[in-house]
Amino acid sequence: MGRPVVFIPDKVPEEAVRYLETVAEVDYRAWEELPGEAKFLQGLERADGLLVYSRHKLKGPVLDRAPRLKGVCNIAVGYDNLDLEELTRRGIAATNTPDVLTETTADLAFGLLLAAARRIPEADHYVKSGQWKGWLPSLMLGKDVHGAVLGIIGYGRIGSAIARRANGFGMKVLYSNLERVPRDEAALGIEYAAMEELLGRSDYVLVQVPLTPSTAGFIGEREFSMMKPDAYFINASRGAVVQEEALVKALAEGRIGGAGLDVFEREPLPPDHPFLSMPRVVTLPHMGSATRQTRAAMAMKAAVNMAAILQGKRPENLLNGQVWKQ
Ligand code: GLV
Repeated sequence: MGRPVVFIPDKVPEEAVRYLETVAEVDYRAWEELPGEAKFLQGLERADGLLVYSRHKLKGPVLDRAPRLKGVCNIAVGYDNLDLEELTRRGIAATNTPDVLTETTADLAFGLLLAAARRIPEADHYVKSGQWKGWLPSLMLGKDVHGAVLGIIGYGRIGSAIARRANGFGMKVLYSNLERVPRDEAALGIEYAAMEELLGRSDYVLVQVPLTPSTAGFIGEREFSMMKPDAYFINASRGAVVQEEALVKALAEGRIGGAGLDVFEREPLPPDHPFLSMPRVVTLPHMGSATRQTRAAMAMKAAVNMAAILQGKRPENLLNGQVWKQ
C-alpha cells in the first residue's frame, strides 16, 4: 500500500507541512487566495486527509468527491464549516484546534473593544488623511473602558481569557452562559447574569459563542432593544450568531452606541454594506487568531491530529467521537 495523501490547499506555516511529510505524501498547494472549486476538488479526490482553514466548507455534495477521505483537520477552533453529522455518517474523523488560540483571540477581542470605545481606527484615519489641524475640545470623544460594565455572552475558554483582561482594566464583568463557572466567579469576581439582565446592565456587550443551530441568529432586534442606548456591541466569534440586519438597524437608528466586529454574516463584506459607512463601527477582516506564533501552533496542532488519524490513533481534538470504535 502506498503512503496516504494529505491535501493542504492553503498556505500554512511550513513546519506543519514538514511534520506531515514524515507520515504521508503531502499535496501542498500553498494557496493564499481561495482556489476555484475545480482545483479544490482535484486535490480532494485523491486525499486520505484534508488540512484546512475554515474558509473551506465541507458540506453536502462536495463530500461525494472525496472517496478516500478518513480525516478532516480544521486549522480553527470553530467548525461550523463542517457537516459533522455527514462526516460521521461517512466514518470521517474531524478535529479542531482549541486552546492554542485562546489568548490571541482574547487579545484581539479586547483590542476591538478598546478600538471601538476610543475610536482608534477613526482617529488614525483622521490624522493620516490630513484632517488634523489642531487640538479641539470635542475631538474624538469616546467612552471609558475602565470602570465600565462588560457583559460576556458565552463564557468558554476565550470568554474567560477576555474576563481576565477586563479585570486588569478595572471593569465589572457579567457573564451569561449555559453553565455557571464558579472557578472564575471566585478568582475574577465575575457575576453570573441572565441574558436580559446582562443586556440591560452592560456598557459593552461581547458575544463569544460557537456558531451552532441553537446560536444561529440568537441575537436580534429584541436583544439590541434591551441594551443601553450608548452600549457597544463586540463580536469576534461568528457573524451568523447575530441577525446582522437588526444590528445595522439598531446602529442606524442610534439605539446602541457602536460596534466592534471581526466577523460577519457574509465574508468578505460586500462593498455596499452599511457598516462600511458607519464611523462608529470598527470592522476587521476575521483575524482573531492571526498572529504568526498562534497560526504556527494551530497548524501544528492540526498536523498532529492528522498524523494520529492516519496512524489509526485517536486524535486529541476529535469532534465526532462516534467514528472512533475501538
Ligand atoms: C477562527 O475563526 C477559528 O474558529 O479558529
